[in-house]
Amino acid sequence: MANISLSSDLSAFRFPHRHLLGIDGLSPEDITLLLDLADAYVAQNRQRDKKSDVLRGRTVINLFFENSTRTQTSFELAGKRLGGDVLNMSVSSSSIKKGETLIDTAMTLNAMHPDVLIVRHPDAGAVQLLSEKVNASVINAGDGRHEHPTQALLDALTIKRRKGHLDHLTVAISGDILHSRVARSNIQLLNLMGARVRVVAPLTLLPADIDRLGVEVHHDMREGLTGCDIVMMLRLQTERMKGMFVPSIREYFHFFGLDREKLSYAKPDALVMHPGPMNRGVEIDSELADDIDRSVIREQVEMGVAVRMACLDVLTRSDAINPSDDL
Ligand code: NCD
Repeated sequence: MANISLSSDLSAFRFPHRHLLGIDGLSPEDITLLLDLADAYVAQNRQRDKKSDVLRGRTVINLFFENSTRTQTSFELAGKRLGGDVLNMSVSSSSIKKGETLIDTAMTLNAMHPDVLIVRHPDAGAVQLLSEKVNASVINAGDGRHEHPTQALLDALTIKRRKGHLDHLTVAISGDILHSRVARSNIQLLNLMGARVRVVAPLTLLPADIDRLGVEVHHDMREGLTGCDIVMMLRLQTERMKGMFVPSIREYFHFFGLDREKLSYAKPDALVMHPGPMNRGVEIDSELADDIDRSVIREQVEMGVAVRMACLDVLTRSDAINPSDDL
C-alpha cells in the first residue's frame, strides 16, 4: 500500500472548515495547504500502487443532480485511491425522479452515516442549503452558476506546477463567463493568490456584477490575450441559456474562438486551459486543443484526481472539526 509522506508542516495543519462549498471563505493558507497536499498525491497517483488507507472505514457519496464526466469519476477515483467506500447516486434511477425533494434525499442519505457528500446541483445555493441539514462534510461539485471550488483548485495546481507560482501571473479567462461557476471560482482563487485576472467575452456573456469581481474586462481577444501567461477557455453553456446570446457559432468562433493567430498575442510560453467538456471549433480550435506544447487540458484532468484526494483527506482527518460542533 502506498502511503503518502507529508512534510511535518502539512500534517500539522488543520483545515479550519467542515465543508468545502466554495473558494469564497478560504484563506490563501487553506489554498496553499490543499495545493501542496494535492501535489504530493500527484506523485502517489503516478506510482504503480496508487492506494492508501487515509479514508479506510469512511463512506463517500457522490450525489449528482447534473451530468458530469470528469468531476464525478475523479471524485470516485479519489475516494477509492484513499481506501474509502464510494457510492454513486445516479439521479436518473433514484427517488428524485419520483419527486423527492433535495432535502428529503439528503436526509435519507444522512441517515446512512456517510462521512462526505459530494453534491452537484443546477441551482446556485442548493449545496450550501443541503450542507446545513446533514452531519456529513459536504463538497460542492458545482452549483448552478455559483461555484465549483475543486475545479479552481485543480486549475491552480496545473498552473503552479507549470509556472512555479501563481502570484504576478496574468490569466485571461475567455468565453461564457455569465453562466460559468468555473470562472467565478477561478477569479476568486486567482485574485486571492496574487494573480491578475482578465475576462474576455462579448457583453452578452458577462455577468452584470463583473466590475465587482476584481477583473480587467475585455471584449476583444487580441487585446485581452496580449502578454498573458495563461489562456483559460470556457464552454458556451447553451443548456443554461434562455434565448440567443451569440449571433451564430461561426461568428462566435471568428471573434472569440481560440486559434493560433489569437494565441500569438499571449506570451510565447502561454498555456492553454479548458475545464472540459470542450466544444471543438466553437470556443477552441480542435488542433490547438490537442497541441501538447501549448495545451494542458489533459493535465488538468490528472490534477483533478489529486486535488479531490487532498480535499477528501483534509475534510476527514480525525482532528477535523466535529460535525456536531457547528450543526
Ligand atoms: C464545468 C462545469 O460543470 O461547471 N465542467 C467541469 O466540471 N469539468 C464546465 C462546463 O460544464 O462547461
